[in-house]
Amino acid sequence: MTSVLQHTEWWRSAVIYQIYPRSFADANGDGMGDLLGIRDRLPELAELGIDAVWLSPFYTSPQKDAGYDVADYCDVDPLFGTLDDFDSMTSRAHELGLRVIVDLVPNHSSSEHVWFQAALAAAPGSPERDRYVFRDGLGENGELPPNNWESVFGGRAWTRTTNPDGTPGQWYLHLFDSTQPDFNWQNRWVRDQFGDILRFWLDRGVDGFRVDVAHGMVKADGLPDWTAPDAAGSMGGSDATRAPFWAQDGVHEIYREWREILNGYEGERILAAEAWVDPLTDMAKWVRPDEMHQAFNFPYLETPWTAQPLRAVIDASISAFSEVEAPSTWVLSNHDVVRHASRLALTAENPQGHGIGPKSAGLPIPELGLRRARAATALMLSLPGSAYIYQGEELGLPEVIDLPDDAREDPTWFRTNGERYGRDGCRVPIPWEANSPSFGFGPTAASWLPQPSDWAPFARDSQRGVEGSTLTMYRLALALRRAHELATGTIEWLDAGADTVLALRNSDVLVYANTGDSAVTLPAGDVLLASGPLGDNELPADTTVWLRA
Ligand code: GLC
Repeated sequence: MTSVLQHTEWWRSAVIYQIYPRSFADANGDGMGDLLGIRDRLPELAELGIDAVWLSPFYTSPQKDAGYDVADYCDVDPLFGTLDDFDSMTSRAHELGLRVIVDLVPNHSSSEHVWFQAALAAAPGSPERDRYVFRDGLGENGELPPNNWESVFGGRAWTRTTNPDGTPGQWYLHLFDSTQPDFNWQNRWVRDQFGDILRFWLDRGVDGFRVDVAHGMVKADGLPDWTAPDAAGSMGGSDATRAPFWAQDGVHEIYREWREILNGYEGERILAAEAWVDPLTDMAKWVRPDEMHQAFNFPYLETPWTAQPLRAVIDASISAFSEVEAPSTWVLSNHDVVRHASRLALTAENPQGHGIGPKSAGLPIPELGLRRARAATALMLSLPGSAYIYQGEELGLPEVIDLPDDAREDPTWFRTNGERYGRDGCRVPIPWEANSPSFGFGPTAASWLPQPSDWAPFARDSQRGVEGSTLTMYRLALALRRAHELATGTIEWLDAGADTVLALRNSDVLVYANTGDSAVTLPAGDVLLASGPLGDNELPADTTVWLRA
């Protein structure tokens, strides 16, 4: 295998592209993306100018939460292919100079995992049950759940088991769906199993792990009742509002152990935390020098397209992460949130993960959303640190709002009886070719979620080499980011002349982002990149420009 990878703390400046395997590319035409589909499309990602890919789960799974319910951590689900396909995909990525990060889901397994099945079959108090969080119920006959915790997906976080003789048994904890029982991370056996899982994938050549729910694995002693204040998001909350199942101090020793394991391997393998922790100074604990390498910057993702809050979160990020010598990361979209080409034009309050659908209030105007998304991306890619791109955002894809109810698969939709639409709208298979069945997603018209019929203009082949297209803007921004070494630069704020405009200098590039609703005067200079058409010496509303300093 040839490899052109450089080892210079690559992760401090990397642009990492998230592949959602179900929806990226389908080689066998069954309507579900797969590993060989990914392998064959990797050259197009290399052409985009990214450094690494992160794959959402492709492991053996009953797919009750799109693969975040893992039934075998060391095998590939037949839906996506085989371990050989994984190896073939990874070698191709490495040949192209792309690193491969896989998703690790340690907070919970699938209820179909043999460990959970063994726990159900074993008696209360057994070692098998101690690997998960089983408790007796409250009430006279144990008919009430052990505490009042609610699932992130809606409904209660406990499900009662049935004993082999048919009588009601103990309850088990699931912060997510009832098919996703939480592990007991106080149990040494669980820790050892995950050490082996890390080694299994490291030995296969992966360059790192994105760690799912990295703030959730340890729960407060005694599992105390807790009622969420309005201010707390379903996945986190700040110190004052923190749930006894998020961001407990005990998680950090787990990551120190994992870091030791990774340090034993050549080639700068990394850990990236999905930790919804507020404030950023607290999130920075996940990336102390002996813990993880990166943490997703969700406070940045959650900031509206408004200049002053953006400036504040950029400053807070750089300061909090620098304090622990970690790079800041930047992210605007992923498989759990409304795509930023729609989210940035929402007019109603719409918390992450809850999704939008035909009956939602304040639906976005598509043109406004796309204009803002391009401007927001151009700002993001000018910032120092590592940036994440979610598949399809380089095409300007919007959230799919009008999915038929019977096509939806997100457990959030079912667990809230359709009250929350959930995340299917950002997970629709992406378009590659304007004039092919399933827009080139696969060789047939099959697509596990229906694609909108008007997606031809978003297809990659409609945009490749086309001046002004979103794809062209992403390619240019990534090339300039590299050429001007913006990822390793430092920013200096400049006087923007208006509260609604951000102005900064990074290296020899000046960046102006107009978040207001009217045009402002643009200083003279060579335009390197513009997120939309510019006026004569004018920066229109919702537009970002890079000028040569
Ligand atoms: C993370 C994943 C999300 C999943 C959840 C439970 O937040 O990103 O997709 O549903 O964890 O594993």
